[in-house]
Amino acid sequence: MDKWDERFSEGEYPTDPDPSPVLQAYVDTFPEGRALDVAAGTGRNALFLAAEGYDVDALDQSWAGLDIIEERADETNVSERVETILADATEYDFPEETYDVITISFFRTLDQLGNIKAALKPGGVLFYQHHLQSSPPATVGPSTNRYRFQSNELLRSCLDLTILYYEESTEEREGRTSATATIVARNTHGGTQSYPQRHWE
Ligand SMILES: C[S@@+](CC[C@H](N)C(=O)[O-])C[C@H]1O[C@@H](n2cnc3c(N)ncnc32)[C@H](O)[C@@H]1O
Repeated sequence: MDKWDERFSEGEYPTDPDPSPVLQAYVDTFPEGRALDVAAGTGRNALFLAAEGYDVDALDQSWAGLDIIEERADETNVSERVETILADATEYDFPEETYDVITISFFRTLDQLGNIKAALKPGGVLFYQHHLQSSPPATVGPSTNRYRFQSNELLRSCLDLTILYYEESTEEREGRTSATATIVARNTHGGTQSYPQRHWE
């Protein structure tokens, strides 16, 4: 059994993880419509976006994670807005200019990021958060640096978009430290543009 299928089946991963506060703060500034959550897990972003009114494709290689998403979508009355896609994101043929919003949380996929960005409609927004290499080493997330971003790696990978928010930070939770990079970036380029108003401290 796949590592993630096993973790999800045995309840070793939260079935209702909170969406990022940054995603929650920015969602009202995003275009409405269709969303894709890459490596959706148990639905951290997918179910949040469905509750916000998006038609969401939740893609993951783990059937066990997708089963949990379908159950939770039923329980929260959003199942008509959530489609699950069982697929390997490293090989998936992302459709071009299809999504208003794409989210990725805690899945390293720089190889496919060009194709994922190309799946944004003009004006569509990418939200991406992932673990960082840090000193001292963070204790939440992958045990090896190989699966973590280096400083500014995520930022550099998105410089063809308009960066609306970028942060690298650490957080203490229940005695453990996480180090993450978070980006919100829009599929627009250069010139004079409109920007969302900052509305949190
Ligand atoms: C740390 S979990 C994150 C899940 C969710 N995004 C979240 O934030 O809670 C990593 C997820 O990536 C998925 N995953 C790993 N490799 C994948 C691949 N090649 N294609 C699609 N999903 C993959 C796993 O099945 C798992 O659901």
